[in-house]
Amino acid sequence: MEKTVVIDLEKCVGCGKCARDCVSSAIYVEDGKARIREGCIGCGHCFAICPAGAVDMPGYDTASCGEVVPMTAIDSDTLLQAMKSRRTVRHFKDIPVEQEKIDKILEAGRYAPTGANSQNVACTILGSKQASIERDCVRLFKTGVGIGSKLVSFLRNVDINDTFFFKGAPLVIVVSGHDAVNATLASAYMEIEANSLGLGVLYSGFFCSAAGILPKVRSALKLPKGHKPVTCMIIGYPDVEYLRIPPRKERKARIL
Ligand SMILES: Cc1cc2nc3c(=O)[nH]c(=O)nc-3n(C[C@H](O)[C@H](O)[C@H](O)COP(=O)(O)O)c2cc1C
Repeated sequence: MEKTVVIDLEKCVGCGKCARDCVSSAIYVEDGKARIREGCIGCGHCFAICPAGAVDMPGYDTASCGEVVPMTAIDSDTLLQAMKSRRTVRHFKDIPVEQEKIDKILEAGRYAPTGANSQNVACTILGSKQASIERDCVRLFKTGVGIGSKLVSFLRNVDINDTFFFKGAPLVIVVSGHDAVNATLASAYMEIEANSLGLGVLYSGFFCSAAGILPKVRSALKLPKGHKPVTCMIIGYPDVEYLRIPPRKERKARIL
């Protein structure tokens, strides 16, 4: 069994909080001490909950976790209004995104929930390949037996120019995974963090569609084995300002 979690029996006070909170019942208390058995998914709830600091996760960088900040530290009205004010950004300033901000965006994605704590989401920054990938993508998209017009009718009026996919933005991150839900959730976390850093985001569904059907584009991404591109996040400083919040359709929420 891989030892994701190790319990220091000297420190353990036998309170059972870890056992109670363990999703896979991989911890039990015996003779006043917590014991670990098979089934651990490495979620770290035991690490997070132990009042005695008796749980360690060898192989994980526990030092960089930082202090707990509850979501309630963010005023809920402000958060809601900020989420409603978020807009897709399609015009970007020609300013690079600082590495410190990229790190924060990636860190937000790393902490999104994943089914069974698989953490099997990857972020691929196109970096020095961004221009060549976009060039190939535009060429193939335009010439590829009318792929563009087949995808959506509104593309008929759209000029598929050289910056059609990445809009001249300085940062493009493809978020991939085996599972679309995990990668989507990670993307949403990343977007919120990016927005709070003053950055705008566009999800390029067109790019993901193109990467899905154009082998040359797909292989240029060098995604981890078995991964599919789930979102393509175009990120940069917005060169556009929205003055009001657009209306939405009525809420579709029901009580059965
Ligand atoms: C999965 C996904 C794919 C998208 N793909 C594109 C795209 O390829 N090009 C584009 O201009 N906008 C794209 N968008 C942005 C949507 O058009 C936008 O979210 C929608 O019009 C609502 O505008 P808002 O995000 O400003 O509220 C995408 C959004 C999502 C969630």
